[in-house]
Amino acid sequence: MIETARLILRPWRDSDLLPFSEQNADPVVMRLLGGALSRDESDAYARRAEAHLAAHGFCKWAVEAPGVAPFVGAVGLSYVRFEASFTPAVEVAWRLHRTYWGRGYATEAARAAIDDGFGRVGLKAIVAMTVPDNHASLRVMERLDMTRSIEFDHPNYATGHRLCRHVLYRLP
Ligand SMILES: CC(C)(COP(=O)(O)OP(=O)(O)OC[C@H]1O[C@@H](n2cnc3c(N)ncnc32)[C@H](O)[C@@H]1OP(=O)(O)O)[C@@H](O)C(=O)NCCC(=O)NCCS
Repeated sequence: MIETARLILRPWRDSDLLPFSEQNADPVVMRLLGGALSRDESDAYARRAEAHLAAHGFCKWAVEAPGVAPFVGAVGLSYVRFEASFTPAVEVAWRLHRTYWGRGYATEAARAAIDDGFGRVGLKAIVAMTVPDNHASLRVMERLDMTRSIEFDHPNYATGHRLCRHVLYRLP
């Protein structure tokens, strides 16, 4: 468990699955992430995070905002699940329920996950990626002092798909 001024990054609970599925069914949240997820797809994401935590000691955590909500989204670190010129690599990623955008939660949680990755976990580098249109996510990367690196075609999308081209950021 990782604590920040306003947030707790913690392992997943079954009670997170419903609010997480609502977030993942929101077309605005998912517009630049390949579209809305079904309940099963959403649950599978959380289960993958749990398995990643068991295997590696870190994951995309469930994020709680004490006094505000028991679950506001998912933020944390995981091994990149595809092959590219920069893999193997650990990425930091964030995805918040729309109610909790605009409060600095993504940046605050990501900063804590990164510190944990470089500290307790002993990682040497952390990347982040998004599509060039995802201005909110790019702003988070810049607030985290990540450095813009390469552009690449994400192998999960066909060449020419609107989400194929990605930007990579990295730390240090
Ligand atoms: C990406 C995403 C997490 C960013 O959320 P966000 O709310 O813009 O980012 P933060 O939580 O860091 O909040 C920063 C914003 O809160 C504002 N803010 C308000 N109070 C704040 C506070 N106390 N501290 C810091 N920032 C605060 C900042 O001014 C900033 O707004 P701005 O970028 O318009 O200047 C969110 O848009 C999202 O979940 N998108 C859908 C999923 C997605 O695309 N994920 C990324 C995939 S790569």
